[in-house]
Amino acid sequence: MNASENRRSFIKKASALVGAFSIHSIFNELHATTWQTLDDSYSDWSPVDLASNEDYWSVIQQGYSASSSPIIILNNGGVSPSPIVVQQAVERYNQMTNQGPSYYMWQILDQGRERVREGLAKLGGCSPEEVAINRNATEALVTVIYGLDLKKGDEVIGSTQDYPNMMQAWQQRALREGIVYKQLTFDFPMENDDEIVEKYRKAITPKTKILHLTHVVNWNGQIMPVKKISRMAHQHGIEVIIDGAHSFGLLDFNIPDLEGDYFGTSLHKYLSAPIGSGMLWIRKEKISKVWPLVCAGDPQSDNIRKFENLGTRSFPIEQGIGEALNFHNAIGTKRKEERVRYLKDYWAKKAIEIPGVQIHTSFHPSYSCALAGVSVDGLTPAELSSKLMSQYKIHTTSISLGNIQCVRVSPHVYTKISDLDRLVAALGKIAG
Ligand SMILES: Cc1ncc(COP(=O)(O)O)c(C=O)c1O
Repeated sequence: MNASENRRSFIKKASALVGAFSIHSIFNELHATTWQTLDDSYSDWSPVDLASNEDYWSVIQQGYSASSSPIIILNNGGVSPSPIVVQQAVERYNQMTNQGPSYYMWQILDQGRERVREGLAKLGGCSPEEVAINRNATEALVTVIYGLDLKKGDEVIGSTQDYPNMMQAWQQRALREGIVYKQLTFDFPMENDDEIVEKYRKAITPKTKILHLTHVVNWNGQIMPVKKISRMAHQHGIEVIIDGAHSFGLLDFNIPDLEGDYFGTSLHKYLSAPIGSGMLWIRKEKISKVWPLVCAGDPQSDNIRKFENLGTRSFPIEQGIGEALNFHNAIGTKRKEERVRYLKDYWAKKAIEIPGVQIHTSFHPSYSCALAGVSVDGLTPAELSSKLMSQYKIHTTSISLGNIQCVRVSPHVYTKISDLDRLVAALGKIAG
């Protein structure tokens, strides 16, 4: 096969490229040929075996400018950098936009939205008619939180370990409308689904209308058994909202299979889409009853696009999602999940052997992937995080939330093994 045949075959295999200008995709220009060869070489490797193959992952790392950052970035759970192709796409669309925004945005780039929707739906294993594109997980989830009809006395069950923006949205509804917002607290890490499901079940009363769940708890990386909790909730006639900010584009699942009713996520975390991109999924039959935050025509319509009336915003960012999908699909979700879990295990298993170092996250693959919490005896999370940055140029984030006190470390596919070796060595010196 010659180079152009090779490229064509790869594109076919990676399914149609996504975006307004898919034929001229930057992914196609930069990576298709090399990645085809790479893919051919490892086609019969299982994702678990491939996870530790540095030859394969070094090619992927080169796709990110962040892989050569002078600072070791280990807070990808906060927000992730985009691959070079995504950055270039956004720049290209921006330049085009600024030649005449009202024409290029509204008449050209706007045409690409349906392709992006289809691409996101394919990755999420759902219908495009259930996917709205917006700016972040907060916007997606708060649309649902504020958009559901609830009356005074109706109960919502969440947890103190959900994300603050969502807790605050529920608290505002409680204050304003008299709904009752109950919060559970878990003693993470946990490795017993029944115990978690049971805790939610016990909190349910005849007045409970909604369960608000976080798929991957951002504080310590705990993966929650959302499917089992949702199934139990539905047996009680209760709807389920899932915060998937840390799961989409990382864990290999289909959104409807989680059995929730509503799912919101950022795309600028593990999918590496442009910063300021998010997605809302609503089960088709539930769309009509959710009021949009910004009304577009018929607020009770069952057309998911009613949630996209966001006013003037960055169309280049939105279209850049297409290149992030191309990049992600060329790796594959399962390979990415296993690689990132391998990276977490790589550093955390070494770190836990250091006297005075504690790991606050399960090592069981069902309960953790990218994120893990670490602490050093005698240091607060803020002190540890600050030492890692000031003395070793390692950027992390400190977590101090009730019973979760740790520094959160979250690698990504562009993270090098040598960076993790530097982290482990730094922890050794700090604890020593
Ligand atoms: C669990 C969880 N949900 C939601 C969000 C909010 O994401 P965004 O800032 O993209 O709205 C975050 C951000 O880190 C998060 O960790």
